Amino acid sequence: MELHHNTVLITGGTSGIGYEFAAQLLQLGNTVLVTGRDQAKLDQTKQRLPQVHTFQSDLRDPAAIRELFARVTAQFPSLNLLINNAGELRKLNLQDSEVADITREVDINLAGPIHMVQQFLPHLLRQPTAAIVNVTSGLALTPFPLAPIYGATKAGLRSYTQALRVQLAQTRVQVFELVPPAVDTPMNDRFAGGEDMTSLLTPTKLVAGALRDIQRDKKTMYPGLAGVLRIMSRLAPGLVLKQLSKGLEPALANL
Ligand SMILES: NC(=O)c1ccc[n+]([C@@H]2O[C@H](COP(=O)([O-])OP(=O)(O)OC[C@H]3O[C@@H](n4cnc5c(N)ncnc54)[C@H](OP(=O)(O)O)[C@@H]3O)[C@@H](O)[C@H]2O)c1
Repeated sequence: MELHHNTVLITGGTSGIGYEFAAQLLQLGNTVLVTGRDQAKLDQTKQRLPQVHTFQSDLRDPAAIRELFARVTAQFPSLNLLINNAGELRKLNLQDSEVADITREVDINLAGPIHMVQQFLPHLLRQPTAAIVNVTSGLALTPFPLAPIYGATKAGLRSYTQALRVQLAQTRVQVFELVPPAVDTPMNDRFAGGEDMTSLLTPTKLVAGALRDIQRDKKTMYPGLAGVLRIMSRLAPGLVLKQLSKGLEPALANL
């Protein structure tokens, strides 16, 4: 897919990977629209990237998605690229019956993109070229005991993305999946809680590679360690789960 002169909507474009998609897609000559919940973060993004168009919208709320669709398509009828990027991750102890909002990640990471696609697909189908990019995770490839709901949502989003691609195969809407490994973003800052993050992939490098791959029509992208995880999770899924289960007890005790 050509990545010039498109009109792109990025959910969660005010931070981390989504912000970097916005910055690099602007540089390539696209019109870029971003969403987020926090108006202060949207204003900050507008200050840093004056050409960006911001829309406050919460993915958890299907009514807000309907309203977003109406506003975006009225102002930008040429919208042809949807990047379902926004997501949240929590470490959770499933034995803690006090956990509030237990399906929070399901609503944001899985139901959110599904509602977005259902709402925007008829519009995308009418464009001469269009695409949907879903951002899953290396943690879609294996269970992750420390963030069990997050892993389940990303595995679900990956399955949905593959099925969507098959259903849209005879249309002009292409379906891409970006499977990032650990990336140095605010999400990971919160997750690591002060650990050294210098060895992680930067969002700049991740997104530059993903945009190159999309331009080459590479439908599923496994950058960096996600490629290793892909092979290992096929060859030795039990071993991968064992590795990712190490240190679980103390980590849960510290929640
Ligand atoms: N960082 C990693 O290591 C990593 C690895 C694999 C996959 N991923 C995936 O990559 C995507 C981006 O992650 P990131 O690391 O860039 O995260 P981030 O820095 O925390 O950014 C998340 C973005 O999503 C927005 N957002 C969160 N909940 C939302 C909601 N309910 N409605 C609308 N916007 C919402 C946030 O803005 P507001 O808070 O203002 O709403 C923010 O703009 C996520 O899907 C994540 O699962 C990340």
